[in-house]
Amino acid sequence: MASLLIKNIQHLIGLQEGPSLFKKGMAMAEVDSVSNAFIFCAGDKISSFGPMSACPDRADVVIDGYNGLVLPSWCDSHTHLVFAASREEEFVYRIKGMSYSEIAEKGGGILNSAAKLQQMDDGLLYELSAQRLEKIIRNGTGAIEMKSGYGLTLDAELKILRVIRKLKENYSVKIKATFLGAHAIPTEYKQNRQGYIQLIIEAMMPKIAEEGLADYCDVFCDKGFFTVEETSKILEAGLKFGLKPKIHANQLAVSGGVQVGIAHKAISVDHLEEIGEEEILALKSSSTIPTLLPSCSYFLNIPYAPARRLIDEGLGIALATDFNPGTSPSGNVPFLLSLACTQMKLLPEEAFNAVTINGACAMEIQQSHGSIAVGKTANLIVTKPMSTLAYLPYAFGDYHIKDVILNGELFH
Ligand code: NIG
Ligand code: FE
Repeated sequence: MASLLIKNIQHLIGLQEGPSLFKKGMAMAEVDSVSNAFIFCAGDKISSFGPMSACPDRADVVIDGYNGLVLPSWCDSHTHLVFAASREEEFVYRIKGMSYSEIAEKGGGILNSAAKLQQMDDGLLYELSAQRLEKIIRNGTGAIEMKSGYGLTLDAELKILRVIRKLKENYSVKIKATFLGAHAIPTEYKQNRQGYIQLIIEAMMPKIAEEGLADYCDVFCDKGFFTVEETSKILEAGLKFGLKPKIHANQLAVSGGVQVGIAHKAISVDHLEEIGEEEILALKSSSTIPTLLPSCSYFLNIPYAPARRLIDEGLGIALATDFNPGTSPSGNVPFLLSLACTQMKLLPEEAFNAVTINGACAMEIQQSHGSIAVGKTANLIVTKPMSTLAYLPYAFGDYHIKDVILNGELFH
């Protein structure tokens, strides 16, 4: 079994003793670390770590930490990484004053992305997606959720989910797949919404379940997209096919999305830019994770979800990039951390926990990912020399990563 040693680490951050628990409230600001440290990986697992005084003297691969930090890799629990083309023309429309909803109503937005993806052959779609994945791995992501939803036909939804399966086969990053057929109503079904929902439930879901292509079922439950009743119907059907709910809720309006997600025991309800007291109360009496996506707020110039309030109420949150061509054309977690700190007033430690252990919880992989503990998967980030975790979101826009380790191996 090959071994890898990282020595001379200024701070080894994100240690975990005891069970891998979701961090809530005040615990979100707690981050354990050891200074002047080493970490030793055997095969794809973390085998030991501690102060340099206890450092093993040999390993197959030895990396000098050069007084940088070593962190667990990011766990990005909400992305739409598999898409055909960028949409910078819509970005320019918004600069000129159109809103996201107006662009969507005019056939832009998700329908625009779906039209392009339907035309693209699967080889090219895979290549483009693989290039994006490699780029975000170099930014430190070691586990990622990817959604379909830019297909909106049986064939095109399957094409996306099969591309995700191929990415899983070819990359050592941990990947979870989500079926988001209910991302938008295709134009040809505008007068027949039930017909499209029937297609999702009767044609798409059985095929996806048969091929084992997805872990979760998502619905864009929001004004102008899917109603609470439609969402309920789709989530119930998904559960019958073994797809657990994880939904888009309350991005554009107080839509009832949070409540319908909680009623179906969703793993997470994501976005939450538009929530009030009722949603906060509902979240407090559930185990559904609020996942917040500040890059989307930044990019669309819409309100940020009330992260500070949620944490002060004793809740835990996950943060994710929402990487997609329409509302967040960036899968860059270091930038996300910066936004969370400056715009949502999270402490660097809170932002860090939200995109490591809590992100892992939002993908149900907290037993193997999201923190540094013996026996966990050796997915690690080695930074350039720096002495505090806060430096990472502080010095935004710079490239701070020296090495990335996935499954105990240096990623090239
Ligand atoms: O999470 N809000 C819904 N879905 C995506 C964006 C879709 C798009 O505009 O392409 C999101 O922001
Ligand atoms: Fe999204």
